[in-house]
Amino acid sequence: MKKILQQLVPSVLLLISCQFCTAQKKNISGSKGLKDAYIADFLIGTALNTGQIEERNLKSNELIRQQFNAVTPENCMKAEHIHPEWDRYDFTLPDKLMAYSQKNNMKLNGHTLIWHSQLPRFAHRIQSVDSFRTFFESHINTVASRYSGKIFSWDVVNEALNEDGTLRKSVFLDKLGPDYIVEAFRLAEKASPKTELYYNDYNNEQPLKRAGCLELVKKVQAAGVRIDGVGIQGHWHLGKVPFAAIEESILAYHALGLKVMITELDIEVLPRKFQGADVNQRQASNPALNPYANGIPDSILAQQAKDYEELFRLFLKHRDKITRVTFWGVDDGQSWLNGWPVPGRTNFPLLFDRQLLPKPAYHAVMGLKK
Ligand code: G3I
Repeated sequence: MKKILQQLVPSVLLLISCQFCTAQKKNISGSKGLKDAYIADFLIGTALNTGQIEERNLKSNELIRQQFNAVTPENCMKAEHIHPEWDRYDFTLPDKLMAYSQKNNMKLNGHTLIWHSQLPRFAHRIQSVDSFRTFFESHINTVASRYSGKIFSWDVVNEALNEDGTLRKSVFLDKLGPDYIVEAFRLAEKASPKTELYYNDYNNEQPLKRAGCLELVKKVQAAGVRIDGVGIQGHWHLGKVPFAAIEESILAYHALGLKVMITELDIEVLPRKFQGADVNQRQASNPALNPYANGIPDSILAQQAKDYEELFRLFLKHRDKITRVTFWGVDDGQSWLNGWPVPGRTNFPLLFDRQLLPKPAYHAVMGLKK
């Protein structure tokens, strides 16, 4: 009898959890969204790709307008897109995004002015320090001043730190020296004086990188240059969200007088060998690394809901310090994690599934406000 019960209990539990998950996949069209539930706490944002900026999918557009009051371009404001040649800028898509955010009353966070990755090819070919400085200065001046008075905030510098808190060996460090970060903030402030200015990174909740990030901020402040906030990207993993380190970081950044944002939130459910979001790190494709290609078990969705719920409980505890929580995409089908670090996987890191329906994690996050 005992043996039969031991065999039955897990199946019954799984069945209950399946029904719980299925019941939660109801349509939420017409109801209020995350942005309304969290209106008194912080902004709720999402990253938008080209199709979303151009409103190509009616249902997706409706969902974005229902759920979010802040937007970040996933790619179109990065240097390789917005400044493809030395003397040519392409503002087509960024201008559309600016108009989209104004029309929908969403705060636009520009991403990003200075980043070692996704640089235009010509920038890598510049040899002389003087020419590189001209590129650096004119890029910030031209891009930041175009949206001055309209854009809410800029990620002025992105991912300038190594995991041990030292400065990343990038083309900016190489050509301009360690003061390039202070200079970037100084130029951005001048070009867009009313815009909030942030430093943004992944893993900067981890102690060593956090220490480096605090030093970086102090250096900008000591130079008398404005920096308004720090973005903790928040690319975390199922069952391994570093809650204690996140809380310590929120407190430490706030203690420097900064606003804190979670800027690229997702909770990845697939295995990989390393943490973080260094786009240069990759892993070869292998079926064992893509276990949910034919569907994700409800038990994983339930664990993800638990992780998201605990995270948002922490964010609410520090609602006086956190000004925005932005997801890195709207739905699982859009996520960059389907293509990185292993190409061609089926990942499930966000609050909406591939049919744009809310997942258990969505209901868990909403449930905190009921
Ligand atoms: O635009 C080309 C397209 O023409 C081509 O057909 C296609 C084929 O691969 O590639 C397209 O470019 C891709 C681009 O996304 C637009 O979809 C690039 O290959 C791909 O590398 C690029 O990935 C982006 C990644 O940054 C690159 O650095 C992701 O979408 C974007 O989500 C990701 O975002 C970064 C943040 O900016 C900073 N923090 C980490 C985060 C995740 O890596």
